Amino acid sequence: MNNNYFILFCILAIISQVQSVDPSCKGIINTNPILHDEPTFVNSVPNGKRFVVGSGYDKINIVHLYGGTPYDMGLALGKLMSEDLQHLVPEYFAYLDNKIEDLIKTLPPLVAKWIAELGLLGALDLNYEITRFYTPPWYDEELRGLAAGSGISYENIRRLNLLPELIKAACSVIGAWGQSTLSKTTLLHLRSLDWDEKAPIAKYATVTVYHPNTSYEGYENHFHDYYKQKYSGSYTFANFGYLGLIGSIGAYNEVSVGLGQKVWITKEQDITSRFGNPWTYVLRDVVQ
Ligand SMILES: *[C@@H]1O[C@H](CO)[C@@H](O)[C@H](O)[C@H]1NC(C)=O
Repeated sequence: MNNNYFILFCILAIISQVQSVDPSCKGIINTNPILHDEPTFVNSVPNGKRFVVGSGYDKINIVHLYGGTPYDMGLALGKLMSEDLQHLVPEYFAYLDNKIEDLIKTLPPLVAKWIAELGLLGALDLNYEITRFYTPPWYDEELRGLAAGSGISYENIRRLNLLPELIKAACSVIGAWGQSTLSKTTLLHLRSLDWDEKAPIAKYATVTVYHPNTSYEGYENHFHDYYKQKYSGSYTFANFGYLGLIGSIGAYNEVSVGLGQKVWITKEQDITSRFGNPWTYVLRDVVQ
């Protein structure tokens, strides 16, 4: 399975290739070496195991979670990553607080108004209120487990998870195959967060490998309510993201479905509604 992760890291090399032939590109070529090391085991708790690969700024956590219930997976993630979350969450909100004036200028007027009136935390809470009716219950269950395991408040864990929904993100994706790749055979897939590399989340890169309990009755009983189709089981999948985020932005599952989020919103009107299941959760249920 590890090979699959490393294929994703390899794509950076392909991008350098593309940049070097396009003089209009102002980006800096990524010359970081690809990590080939075997992940090192760190520790385990009921329902979870933690590994790390790389070191310093390039350290990547690899956390395996085994359901149980969504609460059990959240609890295991929280326990395994508690110390890191205790550092990340305050750093993350302090960072956002510092950047908020710049951030507001890039946001749709409606969201800028919410933040001006309610503060960032209040806007994230409002976003929870307007989406929760549409959100499958297993996300709240996992967030509650994550809060209990890590010792971070449930409200702050929830806010961290609703930031992508509030700002709707942007990001980049690429799928390359055939003549566009050096190997000319494999399909390569990249999803880039395109955020400040000094943002605190960059220090907590985490691959979370979920092994959901496919017969968990919460999925069976409620899947149709949210997705209007019959629940037909779950797959093991890896979320490539940052610590604390339980929804998907980039992911890959055991039946070879790769997922990378990209949004193209130029006007608030391009968003048909802000009432709905947050996009990070919709994408996760696509791979899970
Ligand atoms: C999976 O979910 C079912 C139904 O909710 C439960 O009875 C079972 O104990 C769970 N399996 C594990 C390994 O926890």
